[in-house]
Amino acid sequence: MPASSDLNLISLASGYGSFSLPEPVAQQVQRALTRLPLPTSPAEGLPELRQALAHRYQAQAATVVPGDIVVTPGTKAALFLLLATVLRPGDEVLLLSPNWFGFAELIRQAGATLRELPLHPADNYQISPDAVQAAIGPRTRLLLFTNPNNPTGRVYTRPELAALLAVTQQHPQLLVLADEIYDGIRFGPEPVPTLLSFPDPLGQHLVVNGFSKSLALLGWNIGYLVAPSAVAQACTARQFATGGAVAALSQLAALAATEATTDITQELHTGLLTNRQLLLDFLATLPGALPALPLGTYYAFPDLRAFLDPALAPEQASADLVARLHAAGVAVVDGATCGAPGFVRLSYAVPEAELREAIRRMAQVLR
Ligand SMILES: Cc1ncc(COP(=O)(O)O)c(C=O)c1O
Repeated sequence: MPASSDLNLISLASGYGSFSLPEPVAQQVQRALTRLPLPTSPAEGLPELRQALAHRYQAQAATVVPGDIVVTPGTKAALFLLLATVLRPGDEVLLLSPNWFGFAELIRQAGATLRELPLHPADNYQISPDAVQAAIGPRTRLLLFTNPNNPTGRVYTRPELAALLAVTQQHPQLLVLADEIYDGIRFGPEPVPTLLSFPDPLGQHLVVNGFSKSLALLGWNIGYLVAPSAVAQACTARQFATGGAVAALSQLAALAATEATTDITQELHTGLLTNRQLLLDFLATLPGALPALPLGTYYAFPDLRAFLDPALAPEQASADLVARLHAAGVAVVDGATCGAPGFVRLSYAVPEAELREAIRRMAQVLR
């Protein structure tokens, strides 16, 4: 096998796709630049953007108003702002895992502790309401999940979320936070149900979302949080005290993207289909690697435990497999970084020629 120095490394590891700027966004930005100065924004975001976002959720039967929304410099920033605002030292965050590796550090920086509730590939990462009930302890302040899930690509359906929320509503001290950043990238028949469309009699539901995945705004650094208005106001006060509003140009780009959501997600979806099939066809040749198809995100999270060196401990063996793929010229995310050694996260939001070559290289290692 050639050494990696002989090859151009192909990365299937990045969380960001290779999408170009959507046309309606480019036009809006150009218009804004011909009408300078840019608007000055309050810390919580431009009213017209917050209004457009509220409409977006109202169209999904959610009772969101602009006062519930705070625009932030990215989804990660929305997560930190929320976590730092609602958590107290000693609070525990229960995370359905595997999940995005970024959460652990955000929770630590917010002064809370992380407890993972493992979900299992054998039942396609189903959420067991009983297991959630049993895992909620006196210090558990927040339940966190992603829908669709990064890295598994699992989409949680309306009945599944309803069953989960029947448990969380028995715990009034508990907040429920859904990271819905991949909500526009889905391949199943049903839209991804937003947490905000479920009844919330106790004011427990929080959502973060952004524009860098489903809406192709790479590099514009913009996201937002949705929370009961008192929480949103506390987040605004913190953002005002420690920073300020997101750059107006990014907010205007996000406004254009919000207004053109259907067209943008449709185009992304169409653009991803060929690559998705290529990768899934390849993974189908590896027995047992992908028992259920991922219906959301642009990732697959195959089980490659059959290819681990049995002489090594699981984490070490996982790192060794990732190193072997790297040496063959393909960078992937090690599932061990999110509690699943022997699994790897592969993104297919890359140019088709790169994906074809990456598959050819991976096939040399995985045989
Ligand atoms: C689940 C999840 N949340 C948040 C983020 C960060 O998003 P942003 O680029 O908007 O900060 C990512 C990025 O990979 C992600 O996968």
